[in-house]
Amino acid sequence: MKIVEKIGVMQRLVQRARKSGRRIGFVPTMGYLHAGHMSLVAEARRRVGAKGLVVVSIYVNPTQFAPTEDLEKYPRNLERDRRLCRTAGVDVLFLPSDADMYPGRAAGHYSTYVVEECLSQGMEGACRTTHFRGVTTVVAKLFNCVLPDVTVFGAKDWQQAAVVRRMVADLNFPIEMVVAPTHREADGLAMSSRNAYLSAQERRQATVLWRVLVEARALVRRSANGVAAGSLKKTLAKRVAAEPDARLDYIECFDTGTLVPVGRVRRGTHVALAVYIGKTRLIDNAVL
Ligand code: PAF
Repeated sequence: MKIVEKIGVMQRLVQRARKSGRRIGFVPTMGYLHAGHMSLVAEARRRVGAKGLVVVSIYVNPTQFAPTEDLEKYPRNLERDRRLCRTAGVDVLFLPSDADMYPGRAAGHYSTYVVEECLSQGMEGACRTTHFRGVTTVVAKLFNCVLPDVTVFGAKDWQQAAVVRRMVADLNFPIEMVVAPTHREADGLAMSSRNAYLSAQERRQATVLWRVLVEARALVRRSANGVAAGSLKKTLAKRVAAEPDARLDYIECFDTGTLVPVGRVRRGTHVALAVYIGKTRLIDNAVL
């Protein structure tokens, strides 16, 4: 496995690989890797084949964190990440620096951002107002560094995947975008690097996100005509409130393609929620 830190080196490496007919599969991450990330790597490998080049980037992108968020304490363990990538058969681990990714930003001289103006407005975008601008900017920049044929994102960040997919279409990136299923712990908790913040007691309560989605699915499947979104959201919010350390940030029922909120929730409607468990903010979603 090659480790590449410089953008120019990364670009030359993938240009050479493309010339020799290799397809490039790309999984962008912020590190602190877990089995969920590794399933994205496996999907990238499936897509590009044994002769393809699988690239994983690890970059904790400062522009997608608000000043009040957890940029400084975001979990990091590069040694372990390296081992996991090597074992998973990653060909190139790309570790760009802040200075390379955002030249001049520390001195206030960085001024170009990519903004998606529709799908990024609700849910995560409403709670974290500068978040998606940071995500679309860094993902566009990483695409320009890695020049992938195919990129794999996780379904846990459903809205992020939808926003990036729209950006890929709107800006004509010649990239196939794949969204791979959420990886879950045995008790249903979606795998996330932020799960590392949870105390044992919080970890037990964190399953409430998955329990709420399972309950929503059962309620909708039992009703012939669907259920009113307002009353469903109230019922589910009560389940969250029953956990002593949980605080609901939002819960939304929406069309899976357009992300537009629906009035009536039926089979096939998408539900997403964000919940603080203590100080840790977790998200999850499911199609009902
Ligand atoms: O989902 C993530 O880990 C990040 O938002 C991403 C896509 C790597 C961009 O920083």
